[in-house]
Amino acid sequence: DLAPAVRNFLDLSDAGGDAIAAMLADAQDRKAARKSWPKGRPDADAPLAGHVLGMIFEKNSTRTRVSFDIGMRQLGGSALILDSGTSQLGRGESVADTARVLSRMVDAIMIRTDDHAKAEELAHHAHVPVINGLTDRSHPCQIVADLLTMVEHGKALPGLELAWLGDGNNVLHSILEAAGIFKFNVRIGVPQGYEPDSEFVGLARKGGAQVKLTQDAAEAARGADIVVTDTWVSMGQDHAQEKLAAMAPFQVGGELMSLARPNAKFLHCLPAHVGDEVTEEVFEGPQSVVFDEAENRIHAQKSILLWCFGKIGG
Ligand code: CP
Ligand code: NVA
Repeated sequence: DLAPAVRNFLDLSDAGGDAIAAMLADAQDRKAARKSWPKGRPDADAPLAGHVLGMIFEKNSTRTRVSFDIGMRQLGGSALILDSGTSQLGRGESVADTARVLSRMVDAIMIRTDDHAKAEELAHHAHVPVINGLTDRSHPCQIVADLLTMVEHGKALPGLELAWLGDGNNVLHSILEAAGIFKFNVRIGVPQGYEPDSEFVGLARKGGAQVKLTQDAAEAARGADIVVTDTWVSMGQDHAQEKLAAMAPFQVGGELMSLARPNAKFLHCLPAHVGDEVTEEVFEGPQSVVFDEAENRIHAQKSILLWCFGKIGG
């Protein structure tokens, strides 16, 4: 096959440490160079002028949808949305055919879906970059924004102590992948039966990260530089009473937060369920940087797009 390699971003390892470091640097530069208003004004170099991103949503989204759209505008390009409810994909047209058709029409595809295999199949059949905008398995775009937020708030990634409290879900999987790449340590406070996939724990450890799983929330939080949680019920999951009861001791509240380092920051990818996984005191408190994190989705998204289009990272 003589076609140039297409840069997909299905998981963080598709890019690797050097490229992600380049993304973080580019995101900080572009963020610093922009005035706050108007949000849709292109960056001076408009590096993706004329380029179009197609976005497939088989699950709801606010941040991912808006940040990719605004990110493309700021890079000089544009984005369009295919909802599963109104596209032929939602009526059973195959992923393979969708990939081949969209490849003729748009310059890159973002997909948010349930089954990760669907994103892989799309990438397999597409001739343009495919970006994972969240699957049941992982959420790599979120973690580029999270890394950016940590770095912006003065944290050095290697050796950092990150505490995760609650469900061992898709967001945690991508954090574990990042831990292996950047060699930071993850202490996971998780009830039995809700642990992350061992594949991601293995990936982190293989990369040199220390990963500790504990059923003691205090043990996870103690001495942490970053405390992270997420919804106890991810999209597509049941609101099982049994699960909510198991999660209750892992709620991030003031007492748990006080076990972390005094300058620790609290992250949450949002949407949040204040009163469940986090108390209002912590969510609205001085250590919470969740809205910086949400804004950083735009800056991260732009750098991911620029990497996919071969503009940064070698
Ligand atoms: N954090 C995140 O991905 O948010 P959305 O579901 O709103 O896109
Ligand atoms: N774990 C959550 C993240 C939402 C952005 C979910 O999959 O629903």
